[in-house]
Amino acid sequence: MQKKNRGSQKRGSALFSYGRSDAPRMICRGGLRTAPSRLAMTLDEKVRKTLGELGVADAAGVEALFAEVRAAIEAERASLISCGAASESERDKLCKDLRDRWLARKNGILSSIDERWLKTSPRELKPSVGRSFNTLRRESAGLEIAELTRDVPLRAHAAAVDNLSAGDSGTAVVSHIIREVPGDLTLPGNRRPLGSLHPVTQMQREIEEIFLNLGFQIESGPEIESVHYNFDALNIPESHPSRDDWDTLYIDSQTVLRTHTSPVQIRSMEKYGAPLHIIIPGKCYRHDNPDASHSPMFHQIEGLAIASDITFADLKGTLDFFAKKLFGETIRTRFQPSFFPFTEPSGEVSISCIFCAGVGCRVCKESGWIEVMGCGMVHPQVLRNGGIDPEKYSGWAFGLGVDRFAMMKYDINDIQLFFQSDVRFLLQF
Ligand code: PHE
Repeated sequence: MQKKNRGSQKRGSALFSYGRSDAPRMICRGGLRTAPSRLAMTLDEKVRKTLGELGVADAAGVEALFAEVRAAIEAERASLISCGAASESERDKLCKDLRDRWLARKNGILSSIDERWLKTSPRELKPSVGRSFNTLRRESAGLEIAELTRDVPLRAHAAAVDNLSAGDSGTAVVSHIIREVPGDLTLPGNRRPLGSLHPVTQMQREIEEIFLNLGFQIESGPEIESVHYNFDALNIPESHPSRDDWDTLYIDSQTVLRTHTSPVQIRSMEKYGAPLHIIIPGKCYRHDNPDASHSPMFHQIEGLAIASDITFADLKGTLDFFAKKLFGETIRTRFQPSFFPFTEPSGEVSISCIFCAGVGCRVCKESGWIEVMGCGMVHPQVLRNGGIDPEKYSGWAFGLGVDRFAMMKYDINDIQLFFQSDVRFLLQF
C-alpha cells in the first residue's frame, strides 16, 4: 500500500495523470496535472478489472465508466497538443507512445476494455457495454498517429523565447527561430481573400441606381405580411388563385410570407401620401417547387409613381428608358395588355431579346422578345385603400424579378445556382 501510494504521487508530475508504470511521461512547461486521488483507482487499474469487480451493475454505471475513459483520452490528447514537441523526432515518439498506450493491439487500453469489460460482461449489460465500446472506438480515431502528428505543434518559438529570458542575445534568438522555423519570416503574411457581392445583389444595386438617378427613393416592408396588405388592400379577391394554399405560404389564416413586393405600395401610400416615387426591392415567397426557373424564395423590385398628372405614357417612357440604361441603347420595349387586380389597365413588358437582338433564338423561343415584368396604372380602389384620392392623383406601378434579370445579364440558365452558395459559382462575379 505504501509503495502504491508513492507510485501515484510520482505519477502526479507526469503529463498523463492516469499513467501506469510504463505510460509515457512528459513534463509540460507551465502547468502540471494534479494527481488522481490516492484512494481512487486509476483508470489503468480499472481497465484490468471486470465490471463485476468494479461494482458496475447497470447501464448508468456503464455509461459513467465509459464517460471517464473518453474524458481521459481527451485530457491526454489535449495535454500533448498544448505542450507541443521540441522537435519532429520527439513529436513522432510522443504521438506513437500515446497512440500505443490506447490503441496497441496487445496491452492497449482499448484492448483491455474489450477483454475485461466487454467479453466478460453479464448478458443483461452486454448491449449497453457493446454500444459504449463502439462509440469509444469511433471517437478514439483522434489518437491515430497521423491525426496526432497533425495537431501537435513544434515548440520552436517557445524554446527561443525561453532562451531570451535566460539572457541570450536577440540575434541568437532570431537565428534560433530561423533555424527552427522553416520559411522566410520577413515574407508578408497570408492574405484572406475578400468576398464579392452576390450576383443578385449586384443586379439589384444596378437597377436601384438607375431609379435613384431618376429621383426615386428606396422603400422596404416586411417579408411576413398580413393578408390585408398582401391581398385585400390590393384588390385581390378571395377567389383569386394566388390566394390559394397551393400558391401561398401561410403562417396562419391572416399572415403570409409575402408573395410579391406590391403590399409595400399600400404601406408607403399610408405612410407618405402623394406624390410618391419609390422602388421597393425585397425577397418574396411562393409555394413553388424548385427547378431551373422557379425558387420558393426570389427577389422582386417594385416601382410606384403617384402624382397629380401621371399617365400611361409616363410608364412607357420610364420603363423604356430603364431598359435602355440597363441593357443598351439598341434595346426596344413592347407593351402588351395583361391583367392584375391592382392595376387598370395592366400590361406585360417585353424587351427585344438581348441574346439575338430580336432575330429569334432558343432563349426567346424564336420570338425575338423576352417578357420581363408586369405593370399598369394603379387601380383607383387601390389608391383609395392607401388613403389617396383617385380624383386628385393617378399613378403607375411595375414589378420585376431581380433573379430573372440577373440570369439574363450573366447568362445563367438555372436560378438554383444563386441559392446554393457554391463558391466555384460565386467566384465568377
Ligand atoms: N406584383 C405583380 C407580381 O408579382 C407584379 C406587378 C407589380 C404587376 C406592379 C403590376 C404592377 O406578379
